Formats: sequence, structure tokens, C-alpha cells
Amino acid sequence: MVLHYPSVRRSNWWLLCEAARSCGIRLATWEPHRLQVHCMDGEISGCYDGKPVRPGVVLHRTVAAFQGIVAPALKLWASEGTVVLNEPDAAYRSRDKLLTYLALHRAQVPIVHTIAFVEPSEEAMQPLADHRGVILKPAHGVRGEGIRAFGSAGELLTAWEGGCGQRSPLSLAREHYVAQPLVGGGGRDLRAFVVSGACVALMQRQAASGEVRANLALGATPTRLSLDHPAASTAVAALEACRLDYGGVDLIEDDDGTVRVLEVDAWAGFAGISAATGEDVAGAILQLAMTRRLGDRLGGRLGGRLGGTAT
Ligand SMILES: Nc1ncnc2c1ncn2[C@@H]1O[C@H](COP(=O)(O)OP(=O)(O)O)[C@@H](O)[C@H]1O
Ligand SMILES: [Mg+2]
Repeated sequence: MVLHYPSVRRSNWWLLCEAARSCGIRLATWEPHRLQVHCMDGEISGCYDGKPVRPGVVLHRTVAAFQGIVAPALKLWASEGTVVLNEPDAAYRSRDKLLTYLALHRAQVPIVHTIAFVEPSEEAMQPLADHRGVILKPAHGVRGEGIRAFGSAGELLTAWEGGCGQRSPLSLAREHYVAQPLVGGGGRDLRAFVVSGACVALMQRQAASGEVRANLALGATPTRLSLDHPAASTAVAALEACRLDYGGVDLIEDDDGTVRVLEVDAWAGFAGISAATGEDVAGAILQLAMTRRLGDRLGGRLGGRLGGTAT
């Protein structure tokens, strides 16, 4: 079961359908707003359109707006034996760039020097004062939205006082931001897709002329990279640090050649990277889903038999 809206970034859904057809899997779509959790004495159940249900495997995509109902429902099903790829808390954590950097830092995965704040000030921005080029990003931003680059931390402060960034529509709570040195002047980065501890696709992205953000959605040009590239192992370490089964990782090579993580995204689209690299990312995700499901079933049977022997 795929929890998502098929019409939102439809090409990812088509790729999943195509991969499912070729390996004989039946995929169903459930729309997040049609989930319920029914609670009463002695019983609690996850429901879809009012009916108690328990899917075998769940893939969830871009369900950020539905955290309140999706996370409890997925956890409930997982406790009853459903295979939920990308544990909900880990997936939601990865939507926040600051929480992602904390997880990466704990696991000693290289990150870009970052200051996170709700309101910047001269004192707060001091560590970035000597950098020529600073980038400002909403912590929950996607596809480059809400990002701005400045010549210096001072310019960022002036723009902030002029009203930039203070009223983000991205979050009900006041959005926090991250500021970083603009590595290499911006305009180029790397995107990896990792599934089950292996980097399955890797590309370099070159931003459109005059643009610092190398998101494909903003017109960047992708080039396939070999999976031997050092970014592949950094991306794998990043997914492991964030405790995700699969996802996209944005990386950037600094002046010393160290590959640093910019972002981890549990709900990253894979249509762009699949087209650019020719890799079957959707197939790899479904393969993982099947392997987990089979493993759980065998584990359950074996557990039952061992239990029977013991008594
Ligand atoms: N510190 C940085 N230095 C240089 N370029 C950056 C930096 N941070 C982000 N970028 C550029 O901006 C793009 C968007 O930033 P990212 O952190 O991935 O946020 P989003 O979630 O909006 O994609 C990146 O793909 C990269 O091209
Ligand atoms: Mg990104």
C-alpha cells in the first residue's frame, strides 16, 4: 500500500506502478486524509474510510502535512506486524534540516558548517562573518523553495531586517532557518538515492545559469556519476545515521574535496534521478519491501515453530 496522492509528482507513482507490474506486485493507493485511528477500551485500530484495516506493507510519500494521524496509524500497524518502510519518526525528523544535521553529527557524517536560528543577529552570525557568500534556508524547505544567497552574513542581516524570511508559510510554528557558507559559490551539488544500505543512483546537478540552487525542479542539468564516487558511501552513512530504509541525499564537495551532506529526504522524488542515471530506483524500493515482508513472514513462522518446540 502506498500512502500518498498519486497526482502529486505523478512520475514517481508511474515508476512504482511500472516496477510493481514487472515483479507481479499489486499496489494500492491510500490517501492520507482518509485514515482514522479508532480508540476504545481494550481495542485500538487503524482505519481507512471507517473500516479497520491492516496493510501488509506500507510505503509513505510526502505525508508531511498529515503527521498527526499518519505517524500514530503507521506505528499502530507496525506494532501489529505491518512492514512500514521508513519509520515515521525518522522520516518526519528528516524533514527538518537541523534535526538531520544533529543525527549526522552524532554519526560523524560530514556536514556543512551551519548556524540554526529563528531570528538571526550580528552576534549569532559571527561564525559566518568571514565567509564570502552565505546561504539562508528554511529548515523545512523543499525543492529550493524559500532559499536565498547573500554576499555576506551582514547582507543576510540587512535583508532579514527588510522582512526576508520572517513569515514562512511552511510551518504553523515559527519556522527556524539554517545559514551556511555558500560552498564553491553555489550552483553545483550531488544527489544520491540510497536503498537498504546501498547507493543505487548518483548524479551531479549543475544549476541553471545565475542560480545557486541545483534542484532539478529549478532547471538544473543532471549528469550520471559512477557509484564508486566517494559521495556514494557518504550518502549511505547519512541514511544509516538518520535510520531510514531509503531516501535521497543532497551532498556538496567542499574546497578540500570532502563530500558533505546538505540534506536527507525520506520522501525524495526518484523520477529525475532515475531518468538521469537509468537506474531502477522504484524497483529497488519494491525489492526491499518484498524482502522485508518475506523476512517477517518467515521469521513469524519460524518463531511459531520454535515456540511450539519449547512448550
Ligand atoms: N551551503 C551550500 N553551499 C552551496 N550550495 C548550497 C548550499 N546549501 C544548499 N545549496 C544549494 O541549494 C540547493 C537546495 O538546498 P537544500 O539544502 O538541498 O534544500 P532543499 O530542501 O530546498 O532542496 C542544493 O541542492 C544546492 O544546490
Ligand atoms: Mg535539496
